[in-house]
Amino acid sequence: MANSKAAGGKLVELVFKNLGLVFSILRCIKPNVVFKGNALITRYEDVTEVLERDWVFQVTYAEKMYKVTNGSNFFLGMENTEQYTRDVSNMRLTARREDISEIITPFVDKTSMDIIAASNGKMDVVQDLSRVVPTRLIGEYFGTPGWNETEFTDAATSMFQYLFYPDDPEVEKKALDGAEKTRNYLDQAIAERKANRNQRDDVLERCLKLQDAGMPGMADQDIRNNFIGLLIGAIPTTSKCAAVTLNHLFNNPELLVEAQQAARVDDDQKMIQFVQESLRLNAFAAGIQRICAEDYVVAKGTLRSTKIPKGTIVLAATQSAMMDWRKIRKPKEFRLDRPAYSYMHFGYGLHTCFGQYINLAQIPAIVKAVLKQNGLRRVSDMNVVEPFPVNLEIEFDA
Ligand code: HEM
Repeated sequence: MANSKAAGGKLVELVFKNLGLVFSILRCIKPNVVFKGNALITRYEDVTEVLERDWVFQVTYAEKMYKVTNGSNFFLGMENTEQYTRDVSNMRLTARREDISEIITPFVDKTSMDIIAASNGKMDVVQDLSRVVPTRLIGEYFGTPGWNETEFTDAATSMFQYLFYPDDPEVEKKALDGAEKTRNYLDQAIAERKANRNQRDDVLERCLKLQDAGMPGMADQDIRNNFIGLLIGAIPTTSKCAAVTLNHLFNNPELLVEAQQAARVDDDQKMIQFVQESLRLNAFAAGIQRICAEDYVVAKGTLRSTKIPKGTIVLAATQSAMMDWRKIRKPKEFRLDRPAYSYMHFGYGLHTCFGQYINLAQIPAIVKAVLKQNGLRRVSDMNVVEPFPVNLEIEFDA
């Protein structure tokens, strides 16, 4: 028994180590797999079908969201209800598209360059930069810098891991401790701001203005819960994407040279394409999980048509979809001219990332600041403690 368990563990490890290969075999011979209450969807067309039908394939995060917020849901954990629309709309009124060019990009550019300038030509990209910049952005733009920068970042990271990865009691304990600290801090930050209004134009101030106007869904606790959900989504994700992109470029010296040239002339559009393509080939996650709310047939009318029974946990494998040659031309090639639909890093359908436009500014800006450095070199391989990179040491001419 112990041996078969160990062998099973080895097999799972092997599958995870070779996920790209496993997905490519499945896309070819068995694109939709249903097994013991789970389903895996691997082709682009079927992944989008699942993620488009949010009323059939529903989110699974509510239970853990309740624990993190101590009794409420957050819009990522909701179906397409009145409350979902209300909460997303409120937050879109306070975190606006025009802020990207007016506030976010200038802040991220300056913060990244300042950190690099102070580093004397040697830094750990993850610990010193990619974890720090999004946390400082939450401080500046949302108005909530945290009780302690490192602890705030760690709390967001452990809550993310708790919400989106398989159960692990150690992670749960860390995440729920971090959640309590985060709630207490945000309660205090909201109270302090209420005692000292109209000094800043940030997301917190704008939320309180909506509260002043009597907007439903903007009580103090609602603001707190929205902030918890957003900072969990913002910090570890951005850090991972920036580190993974840089690591991919270090692994491919010709690309690194081309990306450095683009960085030095501030070709921001090209920087976005470098990020998108690096992430497509080094996916943030294997896919997006849903639960099937009614019996449903995926890819109906095709040879791969597959019945998914109600209650099945479904993985819409976005990593696999982005490598599907039926939609993505020569998917193994690194190309800077792919259309936007080639990328599903930020999800698809109803729950597409709230921060998707911020991401396409913040991640390339962090990456660009590093690439601008002369004599840039990686000191050692990126160190990952799943699911996040924890170190990526570099040097450059100070
Ligand atoms: C400022 C940064 C970010 C913020 C504020 C943010 C926030 C969010 C929120 C609130 C949602 C739920 C949207 C909804 O329910 O309608 C979401 C979804 C998502 N985000 Fe982000 N996010 C950020 C960065 C990122 C990054 C860098 C990634 C990198 C891969 C990412 C990947 C995703 C994905 C895949 C989903 C879909 C989840 C699902 O459908 O189950 N996010 N994000």
